[in-house]
Amino acid sequence: MTANTPTTGDSKRSVTGVTSVTGVTGVTGQRIFSGIQPSGRLHIGNYLGAISQFVPLQEEYECIFGIVDLHAMTQLYEKDEMSQRITNAAVNYLACGLDPNKATLMLQSGVAEHAELAWILSTVTPLPWIQRVPTFKEKARHQPDNVNMGLLNYPVLMAADILIYKSVAVPVGEDQRPHLELTREIARAFNARFGSFFPEPAEIIGSQARVIGLDGKNRMSKSLDNCIYLDDEPDVIREKIAKQGVTDPARVKRTDPGNPDICNIFTWHKLFSTKEEQAYCAKECRKAGFGCLDCKAILIKNILAVLEPIQERQKELMADLDGVKEIIRDGTDRARKIAQETMKEVREITGLTYLS
Ligand code: TYM
Repeated sequence: MTANTPTTGDSKRSVTGVTSVTGVTGVTGQRIFSGIQPSGRLHIGNYLGAISQFVPLQEEYECIFGIVDLHAMTQLYEKDEMSQRITNAAVNYLACGLDPNKATLMLQSGVAEHAELAWILSTVTPLPWIQRVPTFKEKARHQPDNVNMGLLNYPVLMAADILIYKSVAVPVGEDQRPHLELTREIARAFNARFGSFFPEPAEIIGSQARVIGLDGKNRMSKSLDNCIYLDDEPDVIREKIAKQGVTDPARVKRTDPGNPDICNIFTWHKLFSTKEEQAYCAKECRKAGFGCLDCKAILIKNILAVLEPIQERQKELMADLDGVKEIIRDGTDRARKIAQETMKEVREITGLTYLS
């Protein structure tokens, strides 16, 4: 796969620059937080945009990665499904290379302090800041029958997830950028009211931060049914790419020359194929030297090669779900200790100490 070189949102420096992100106040350690919602199966957008960035970060920083089940509650779900979704997220985190000896894997609902801090942060967050967040409008459009308060509070809870660990940076895909901007604003508002306390975390946005789905138009997203999932069987991946993978729409017949610059399959080649394969595919496409299915066959081979070790690891982990749960339990316990310390300080600086 091509190298992923994340940059921090503010400074556009390589991720090694995170240690010296400017504008960060009150840094107490080099801690990084990110989260994934257990709202379904994880796809290659989640992998390329987020998890593949987490893996190198765990070597250098104190990383906490959350399975944010409270956020997932803002969408309708079957009660019995939730545990299975959490398992799926945990298995994928681990199968993609997160090492519980290096990073902390935690479950958001297991650390009640996230929700407690979210309430306190909501009291320093002016309503118009929240109303203008584009993801709220998008979600409200997407689920018009369920525009709940949780959707509105979603970014405040996200700010709490990040700030409760005094994180200095947050690796995410492009769609999360507005949430990170708001998190910094909320941190600033809190600090202005109660004194400098929270760092203003930078976002770490990688070079694969907006993976387009099979439809060739929209961001890959569970809700749009345009995904290659990390646990899709090889035959399913072959069929999805061959049948649903949109190419240059002007290339109707095999003999029509195509334009790789407007072909999403070629965009995916840039993520999964070698430079030589990319050059070969671009050349053959432009001169109609081969058909879209030939081009897709090379891509499929490369996607399967990336997913093969991940899927092998998924199977091993699925055979030891007690072990997976233990990892999450341990990580959640570790995270809770940090969160409790932060909340103790927050209670002191906000004057919530009457009974202490
Ligand atoms: P979620 O669960 O939607 O997505 C998890 C991560 O995957 C990234 N991502 C993508 N990246 C590139 N291309 C795509 N097509 C694509 N689809 C998803 C997302 O940007 C994200 O990084 N609000 C968050 C969860 C969250 C969180 C947090 C993240 C809650 N609290 C605190 C960071 C810090 C979300 O919905 O992610």
